[in-house]
Amino acid sequence: MIPLLLVLLTGICPVTTNEIYANAGDLVMLNCRESKHNSTEMPWKMETDQKMQLYGNMSAFEQQQLGLVLYQRSLVILRASANHQGNYSCGPRGYHPNTSSQIWFRLTVCPKQSTVCTSRNKYRTICHAKQACKLSCPEGSIPNVGIPGMKSMEDVWHKENGEPSDNYFPSVGLEKSGVYICKRSFSYSGEIYQTSSSVELDVKAVEHPTKLGIYLPKNGQIFEVELGTKKEIVCKALVNSCQNSPYWTSEGEFVDDSDVHTDPCNGSEKMPKCMSTTLIFREVSPGNLSKTFTCVFSSDKLTSRVNITLVKKAQPSKVMLAVCSVCVVVLMAAIVVVYVKFKIDVTLFLRDKVGFKDCQSSTSDEKSYDAFLMCYKSVTDGGLSEEDRKCLASTLEDEFGYSICLYDRDVLPGQAIAEAVLDCIEQSRAVVLVPSFPDPEPGSAVLSAIHTSLVERKTRLIFINTEQTETEASRSGSFPEALQLLSKAGNSVTWKGRPPSTSFWKQLRYHLPAPQQTPKMQLLSQEC
Ligand SMILES: *[C@@H]1O[C@H](CO)[C@@H](O)[C@H](O)[C@H]1NC(C)=O
Ligand SMILES: *[C@@H]1O[C@H](CO)[C@@H](O)[C@H](O)[C@H]1NC(C)=O
Ligand SMILES: *[C@@H]1O[C@H](CO)[C@@H](O)[C@H](O)[C@H]1NC(C)=O
Ligand SMILES: *[C@@H]1O[C@H](CO)[C@@H](O)[C@H](O)[C@H]1NC(C)=O
Ligand SMILES: *[C@@H]1O[C@H](CO)[C@@H](O)[C@H](O)[C@H]1NC(C)=O
Ligand SMILES: *[C@@H]1O[C@H](CO)[C@@H](O)[C@H](O)[C@H]1NC(C)=O
Ligand SMILES: *[C@@H]1O[C@H](CO)[C@@H](O)[C@H](O)[C@H]1NC(C)=O
Repeated sequence: MIPLLLVLLTGICPVTTNEIYANAGDLVMLNCRESKHNSTEMPWKMETDQKMQLYGNMSAFEQQQLGLVLYQRSLVILRASANHQGNYSCGPRGYHPNTSSQIWFRLTVCPKQSTVCTSRNKYRTICHAKQACKLSCPEGSIPNVGIPGMKSMEDVWHKENGEPSDNYFPSVGLEKSGVYICKRSFSYSGEIYQTSSSVELDVKAVEHPTKLGIYLPKNGQIFEVELGTKKEIVCKALVNSCQNSPYWTSEGEFVDDSDVHTDPCNGSEKMPKCMSTTLIFREVSPGNLSKTFTCVFSSDKLTSRVNITLVKKAQPSKVMLAVCSVCVVVLMAAIVVVYVKFKIDVTLFLRDKVGFKDCQSSTSDEKSYDAFLMCYKSVTDGGLSEEDRKCLASTLEDEFGYSICLYDRDVLPGQAIAEAVLDCIEQSRAVVLVPSFPDPEPGSAVLSAIHTSLVERKTRLIFINTEQTETEASRSGSFPEALQLLSKAGNSVTWKGRPPSTSFWKQLRYHLPAPQQTPKMQLLSQEC
């Protein structure tokens, strides 16, 4: 039950999916980079039309047949086609809520000439007019993992209309704004494969600073960073002398020389000019976050300062996963608590309304009765009277649909008593032991004779206690040894007098197997 619930719960858990768009015919790489597993032990699963599991130990021939390359954490589709469209997952599977080890991709393949995918994949680059500007092929979807035998060739650039283009402009003009396509080709086992991605260049006119001092960044600016990654913050100032280049301080001290980079300044250049000094965080540490960094420019006429700080970028997917894991744990706990508390009601509900049967009560056991009501002699007068026993039997039969074997009704006369009783037990799925006063036939003599065979057969035993017999049982010695043995092997339900409470019936039905026939009628029995 629990693993089933886990599967259901992890099913509703929101998992972030990487959206990949590719043009038909292009080479596509899905990179399971966050996974800590190599592809040999890490199955990729394709949820395309036919489900497929891919392992890194597939032979080169098999990979070639499928037009795929599996290398370390990457799955490369050499020529995407509509057949490749679908959902992919990588990483080890399992029922534990550690969904973070599985990564999902949704691959959409667009027709060759369609611009839908190209525009979806657009990367934006900003350059400033009259400055050098270089476009780079976005690396995200392109294999640079050094797949053996795969060679990358020089990128080819063209404009959206197909016109060839450079990707480097020494002094870019506003008219260069637009979409550029980068085509990268790969040679692999004698064939050429290609990817294309588009870069949108936005050339911004720069307003030349006219006032001496810092013009970038803005004072109080906050930079979002990820811990452990590199971050550079450029401080730009209009200077009138190479001596006055901007510098960085933090809490009144100069930032270490190794953490800054100042553009070289040629004293013979035209002044004033723009100069920049870059603050470099090789790997952003938590200590960097708590500090204010100040870029300072000072000349003989003025001093200008700007303060900046770093903040940690929110990581929605990690947060989601954490929240999700907590939800799953809480839900599980709630389900377990509810199940434990309402075990009986849940089981009976499933049995009555949904039709679930317990595993033990298979329909093909060829037994004629659901239960055998057998009396044992209660030592004190706390046992069930004859009316009580009739009430018990008739309610089980008429109201709940059990077929009951009763000694005085169903056992054929003439048989040896112990044998007849064992026969009856044989024909029944459970034995209900009822304390009786006065001792009826066949009585406790038989019970003592057959108790070992009851235990040996692993017969399902249900003991009915009364409050008096319970105290009797606890006073060791007064309870016959046979009964003490049996009461250890069975479940017990306490009878608190007539009419029996609903809780008594629930407990009794919980311990009994489900009746094999449907109840005849919801009649309340006359005797009770
Ligand atoms: C994955 O495989 C590569 C090469 O086979 C190896 O260098 C790397 O250490 C492996 N990584 C792990 C996590 O096993
Ligand atoms: C490949 O690896 C998978 C999982 O580790 C294993 O079940 C399968 O037998 C392997 N196949 C071959 C051909 O080694
Ligand atoms: C991929 O997953 C999305 C939901 O995440 C589903 O709507 C879609 O039908 C799936 N596609 C295939 C081919 O299984
Ligand atoms: C769950 O993930 C954490 C780190 O992501 C890992 O240390 C742990 O072993 C994982 N647990 C299982 C059961 O895979
Ligand atoms: C400095 O500028 C002069 C004149 O523009 C040039 O000849 C010289 O090579 C430059 N020096 C450096 C280090 O850039
Ligand atoms: C950031 O923190 C690291 C470690 O605390 C330190 O070595 C480095 O100098 C800091 N960087 C800057 C720019 O202050
Ligand atoms: C920058 O921060 C320092 C304290 O770290 C403060 O004294 C100073 O006034 C701030 N400067 C500006 C321009 O906000």
